[in-house]
Amino acid sequence: MGLTVAITGPTGEIGLPLLRELERVEAVESVRGMARRPFRPELAGWQKVAYRRGDVLDRDSLAALFEGADVVVHLAFSIFGGRGQTRRVNLIGSRNVFAAARKAGVKRLVYASSVAAYGFHADAPQPITEGVPPRGSEGFYYSAQKAELEAALADSLDGSDVAAYVLRPCVVAGPQATMLIDRVVGSARLGDPLPKLRRWAGRVPGLAPVLPDSGVHFQLVHHDDVAVALAATIEGAGDPGAYNLAGTGTITLGDVARAIGWHSVRVPRPLASLGGGFARRLAFFSPQLEWAIAYDHEVLMDTAKARQELGWVPRFDAQETLIQMAVGAREAGLLD
Ligand SMILES: NC(=O)c1ccc[n+]([C@@H]2O[C@H](COP(=O)([O-])OP(=O)(O)OC[C@H]3O[C@@H](n4cnc5c(N)ncnc54)[C@H](OP(=O)(O)O)[C@@H]3O)[C@@H](O)[C@H]2O)c1
Repeated sequence: MGLTVAITGPTGEIGLPLLRELERVEAVESVRGMARRPFRPELAGWQKVAYRRGDVLDRDSLAALFEGADVVVHLAFSIFGGRGQTRRVNLIGSRNVFAAARKAGVKRLVYASSVAAYGFHADAPQPITEGVPPRGSEGFYYSAQKAELEAALADSLDGSDVAAYVLRPCVVAGPQATMLIDRVVGSARLGDPLPKLRRWAGRVPGLAPVLPDSGVHFQLVHHDDVAVALAATIEGAGDPGAYNLAGTGTITLGDVARAIGWHSVRVPRPLASLGGGFARRLAFFSPQLEWAIAYDHEVLMDTAKARQELGWVPRFDAQETLIQMAVGAREAGLLD
């Protein structure tokens, strides 16, 4: 008998490539997914995947989804929602998932945490390994929630037989994961006048929009490489515990600008930090402005543990992943 895998949030940027990967993995017999939107896996030609609509805030839906499952994968998350919504879905919803997985007696629980769980601290070792405790950044809701949830997961499963795998990807990108570009281009929606001007400038022939680049390096990981790492943990490769995930190499916002046909202007790091600090003060009006902190502090991860223990060899480096994301964004009309 192969594995039955239950997935929360299978319709997102990580979930869809994972469903595609699990169709291929022989050890997996069936997959059940649950999120709120309508979704028809049969349209993709997938044979193993069943889908139902439900909310991680509803414990009965989780109990039904996990009944008889061998492995739970928790991907459901509100990354860019409002303050109240992210707290409800992420903190209450994830605790519901952890408790329901324990109650259902699954063998393994795989949770997608993030590089953000470490927090963005000037004194963090570079590159950072899984031995460094995830302390989060207080002024950045996503980072604080990711750190809080890793501790909550350990508490929830304490004394149980459920093996917990915590994956910490950097920014996930690729042709079907364009969130980074969507945020760069679409931040105009947050009321920041600069991106509006940049977009307007982009419509004038010969005048490409300009993105400020402080030179901070960050990592990217391709969605298909994340799917392979998740599949390895679903199959029980390596010891339970935390694993950093990042492709080889790094990029800057200047590279992102070039990939999407924008210009970039180099701004000194202290100036960028000043801007980040200002944006964080304005975060009272929109929590999304807290994301500025992620781009004015360098947090680069060491991925040796995933490579050694999971046998994970990412196929795409940061530059290739960026190019593929830019192509995907163009095809999706994000750059029109
Ligand atoms: N993308 C990245 O760069 C990245 C990097 C590191 C870590 N991660 C982590 O990886 C996980 C998955 O990320 P992603 O990029 O796939 O996110 P995503 O594209 O935003 O997808 C989120 C998924 O969660 C579902 N969901 C949201 N609220 C839900 C609720 N209340 N009940 C049930 N399902 C709900 C969504 O579907 P509905 O909205 O239809 O419910 C969707 O399927 C998250 O924990 C994220 O923090 C992502």
